[in-house]
Amino acid sequence: MTEAAAAVDPRAFRSALGRFATGVCVVTARVDGEALGMTMSSFNSLSLTPPLVLFSIDDRALSLPLWERATGYAIHVLAESQQDLSNRFARPGGDKWKGLPSETGVTGAPLLSGAAAVFECRPHAIHPGGDHRLFLAEVVRHAHDPDRKPLLFAGGRYGALHPGEVGPADWPLPIHY
Ligand SMILES: Cc1cc2nc3c(=O)[nH]c(=O)nc-3n(C[C@H](O)[C@H](O)[C@H](O)COP(=O)(O)O)c2cc1C
Repeated sequence: MTEAAAAVDPRAFRSALGRFATGVCVVTARVDGEALGMTMSSFNSLSLTPPLVLFSIDDRALSLPLWERATGYAIHVLAESQQDLSNRFARPGGDKWKGLPSETGVTGAPLLSGAAAVFECRPHAIHPGGDHRLFLAEVVRHAHDPDRKPLLFAGGRYGALHPGEVGPADWPLPIHY
């Protein structure tokens, strides 16, 4: 164990990380004809030019060897009505897709309906990152529905945006965004 790892209590570290509110995604792929799907909160934007996004997968995920071979991903940013879908794709192993209709996207990854946004991607790079793998992906097509509010996740709990709770950003902010 490194000095830094020994100094960081895992439970306190997780609790502190849980203060960072995120959305929730279901990322899908198809490998050797098998549909993959996994709930992820590690999605984030990375680069505008080229258009890159990222997500990370735990080394213990049963499906990780298949994800490493995928030639396309579809990242669904879940809407606040899709908590059931988040729970379905967070269960380890088993048939996460049972009875769930899907279409096939431009990369071959299955597309789910009802998401707030969808990013269809090609793999860009996979890097080791401690006990996770960091997947960088290049966006080849995207769509979003401004009327669907995103499902939120913070402190190990789901949440939702409510009118009036957040104001508009005061554009242009004095940062490179
Ligand atoms: C809200 C939420 C966010 C999650 N985010 C991630 C994530 O970013 N990376 C990850 O590896 N697992 C994440 N998980 C857990 C995985 O969804 C779960 O371990 C996975 O579906 C197991 O897949 P397997 O069948 O390949 O083992 C998350 C679960 C939930 C409920």
